[in-house]
Amino acid sequence: KATRKAIIAGNWKMNKTATEAAELIDALIPAVKDADCEVVICTPFTSLVTAVEKCKGTNIHVGAENVHFEKSGAFTGEISADMLVDLGVEYVITGHSERRQYFAETDETVNKRTKAALEAGLKVIVCVGESLAQREQGVTEELVRMQTKIALGGVSAEEMKRVVIAYEPVWAIGTGRTATADQAQEVCAAIRKVLGELYGEEVAEATTVQYGGSMNAGNADELLSKKDVDGGLIGGASLKADAFGAIVAAA
Ligand code: G3P
Repeated sequence: KATRKAIIAGNWKMNKTATEAAELIDALIPAVKDADCEVVICTPFTSLVTAVEKCKGTNIHVGAENVHFEKSGAFTGEISADMLVDLGVEYVITGHSERRQYFAETDETVNKRTKAALEAGLKVIVCVGESLAQREQGVTEELVRMQTKIALGGVSAEEMKRVVIAYEPVWAIGTGRTATADQAQEVCAAIRKVLGELYGEEVAEATTVQYGGSMNAGNADELLSKKDVDGGLIGGASLKADAFGAIVAAA
């Protein structure tokens, strides 16, 4: 674990106008400046220019929340990986469960997005995770293994240096119901095992695997103390500078 980069990433989801984003970043900069981990904020497309500008010269890295897989063309309303790179964006999230649930994204399109983002030079946070029904049916590990494998289809070991996996159990997102540290550890370890099968031990040991789902200042310490939990993808708590700062301090 000591050899892996701990990453705390905020996923702002559909929150904050560009004006509000500027205010939040002003508050975040001092709150995270002493971080021992890598700090990322993933903002709506409309705040990216502001975020990149404001975060220049700070330890905050900027990401988008999604990307389209085509390079250009007649895809009204979509944003390509090259467009993000051109703005100075460094990270992108793919496969968030809200994208899968509300916008019909599939393992296959998550794979396409991941590959397109990597090809453009972005770092990618690939989200996987089971629903409550799937957990109750006992298929969590199988499902997460499958999501991970399909998302990474065609991704090389070299490209894996720019890939982070985020385990987000759907039932823990925005519900205040966090996975226990042991549940998070179990699935993050299972993900690392798949990475080992796909790429070998060295890549598996070097890849950052985050937990996401109602992570906050109160539970971050325990979750992050687990051997295979290398950071967090934070929704609600990333919208308040003090709460996000406290999670960053725990990492
Ligand atoms: O991507 C982050 C996420 O889905 C978790 O959201 O609000 O439960 O921290 P939240």
